Amino acid sequence: MPQQPTVSVLTLGCKLNQADAEAMARRLMASGVRVVARPEEGTDAVVINTCSVTHVADRKARHLTRLARRLSPGATIVLTGCYAETAPDNAAQLTGADLVLGNAAKPEIPDLLLERLRPRREAAVGCPTPVEGGLRPDGPRRPPVRGRPSGRTRAFVKIQEGCDEVCAFCIVPRTRGRERSRTVEEVVQEVLARQREGAQEVVLTGTQLGNYGRDAGWVEKGPRRLLEALLERTQVPRIRLSSLQAQDISIQLLSLWRDPRLCSHFHLPLQSGSDPVLGRMRRRYTAEQFRSAVDLVREQVPDAAVTTDVIAGFPGETDADFEATCSLCGEVGFAAIHAFPYSRRPGTAANLMEDQVPVPLRRRRLERLLALAEASAQAFRCRYLGRVMPVLWEEQKSGWWQGLTPNYLRVYTRADGDLTNTLLPTRLPSLQNEGLRGELQPVGAASA
Ligand code: F3S
Repeated sequence: MPQQPTVSVLTLGCKLNQADAEAMARRLMASGVRVVARPEEGTDAVVINTCSVTHVADRKARHLTRLARRLSPGATIVLTGCYAETAPDNAAQLTGADLVLGNAAKPEIPDLLLERLRPRREAAVGCPTPVEGGLRPDGPRRPPVRGRPSGRTRAFVKIQEGCDEVCAFCIVPRTRGRERSRTVEEVVQEVLARQREGAQEVVLTGTQLGNYGRDAGWVEKGPRRLLEALLERTQVPRIRLSSLQAQDISIQLLSLWRDPRLCSHFHLPLQSGSDPVLGRMRRRYTAEQFRSAVDLVREQVPDAAVTTDVIAGFPGETDADFEATCSLCGEVGFAAIHAFPYSRRPGTAANLMEDQVPVPLRRRRLERLLALAEASAQAFRCRYLGRVMPVLWEEQKSGWWQGLTPNYLRVYTRADGDLTNTLLPTRLPSLQNEGLRGELQPVGAASA
């Protein structure tokens, strides 16, 4: 019996990229293509969905593309995503990709591959259409989660993309273009589709979620309208927002979190705790306004995890500026800090700034932020020792089941049965690895 054609979709970067990858995989599967976790000898095509947020991300994109070429020498290799937008003209020769296609071309990539694979698809008519594993290049092979292409229990749903902000360090406006929001109806229909597949959680993704609807003239109310519609018209047990900006936080928006289906997790990128640096970065808040946004979140949403991004060594950052960042981080007590050294990106305003911080100093500051991040995350976890929280169990690795609470605590447990995609009350008796150990409780056990 002729085999179905196989395609591997590998993704790097943010949750928005993951949503794009899921959409491509879904379209391929619907047309009889087998989507596999890893490229190998005989894989017909590999899509590398890349990121370009730092020069390290660029390097990873090139490395993964070359690796895919080595693993699947005969495959059609498509390099797409943000690195495809910023890559030099000779990116195809540099990486071994057959095609280099930017973000705007992503919706057409499945059709393009389907056309190339047409003879193989026609020969394989009648084959079943199983799905293997996840989309993460480093992920293990694992069984499908009730028909979902990613093998994940959480579905990533894009609500908008593009960015009209002008942050001096950021390449994303160049790679993703102007803001474009999907309609409320489109998003509701997609969430209903993921709900029918059995998704227990949808993660709403975008470049600037807080600006959702702004391009349609919905000044300030877009995210609220969308969340109200989702809460009213869908029953998916959990809805998570991938990130918001401090200036998006308002009491009206937070009032929606009275519904426990909205996950108590707010990713608010800080970038710096120093007003002069925030000004040069062209961020639209001061350190004080950021503090107030966090205070409001904590006042309105008990148990909220506030996580953040911080850049070490932005041009012109003095020791005093950096101390202000450390002190704000210590004060806020983030549940997680993603700390990055400043990375020069051609095409951004900060790349042209004269007072670049020497790389060794950026690294030293980063190390201090990482230590602070670890201590802060551990303190947050400790607050939940002994509590019972609902955990969405995702997968088993090395004998341990892993899952997430609504406030993004990672929990580990051992269990005999298959916990995949189950939402269960779980006691958290002790710390474990980067999270907490869990003990399953009888269904119906109240959170405490
Ligand atoms: Fe990276 Fe593009 Fe996302 S630069 S962070 S994949 S929007």
